[in-house]
Amino acid sequence: MLKVENLTAGYGNNIILEDISFSIENGERFVVLGESGCGKSTLMKAIVGLNPPISGNVFFKDNEIIHPLPENTTFYKEIGILYQSSALMTSLTLEENVMLPINMHYPDFPLKNAKDIACEKLAMVNLYQHRDKYPQELSGGMKKRGALARALVMDPDIIFFDEPQAGLDPVTARDLDMLFIKLNEQLKTTYFIVTHELLSIKRSAQKVLMLADKKVLFFGTFEEAMQSDIYKVKRFFNVDKYGK
Ligand SMILES: Nc1ncnc2c1ncn2[C@@H]1O[C@H](COP(=O)(O)OP(=O)(O)O)[C@@H](O)[C@H]1O
Ligand SMILES: [Mg+2]
Repeated sequence: MLKVENLTAGYGNNIILEDISFSIENGERFVVLGESGCGKSTLMKAIVGLNPPISGNVFFKDNEIIHPLPENTTFYKEIGILYQSSALMTSLTLEENVMLPINMHYPDFPLKNAKDIACEKLAMVNLYQHRDKYPQELSGGMKKRGALARALVMDPDIIFFDEPQAGLDPVTARDLDMLFIKLNEQLKTTYFIVTHELLSIKRSAQKVLMLADKKVLFFGTFEEAMQSDIYKVKRFFNVDKYGK
């Protein structure tokens, strides 16, 4: 689904990530983890082109993604992004927010059909009955689910999540993880999840990429990560046992 080769990324002269390589299989729940500030969001922004890589190659479904993306790129029609802040537009209802990507990418798409698709996605995240509400009227967890419905609206092949549980209480965070997992199994959409939430990683990760010191410290299955001998990996997964 996605292959990254020798990617270097940063801001101006400030290199944040160096020579990052990994691949993500179809339908996989892939988690990028590591300490705060290690470059997780930078990696995601480089791949989706919000802050294009300095060097390296990104392949999406076997085609190379050339950054910066041309204006007529179809890439954004095929991916979904769920931002940390949910980023719902406050002047639009939930339903209008979910329809937004369709209106943007297919301006001639019939309104009735776009509404039907938005309602179908809202039902998937259990928000159909709240479709006429504005973001301000929704709880933190509901906003995240609304943002998920919007990310799903174009039936993307892959969804990028940046710290999806940020700011949620533990119970809401768990419910959200369970919904993510259920939809991943149902729709077979590939997930690229950036997070440092240990519980969430334990619940949802199938493949793990750990970043440290600008590099890939670990790349493998979740089970392999749990058995890793690398000190920082051990420390991350078992803070109590291995101390600070
Ligand atoms: N827009 C930006 N401009 C300059 N530096 C940035 C920007 N965004 C992040 N950084 C820096 O890049 C580093 C990695 O940040 P980030 O990718 O957000 O880390 P993480 O998501 O792992 O917490 C940090 O040192 C941060 O200060
Ligand atoms: Mg981040």
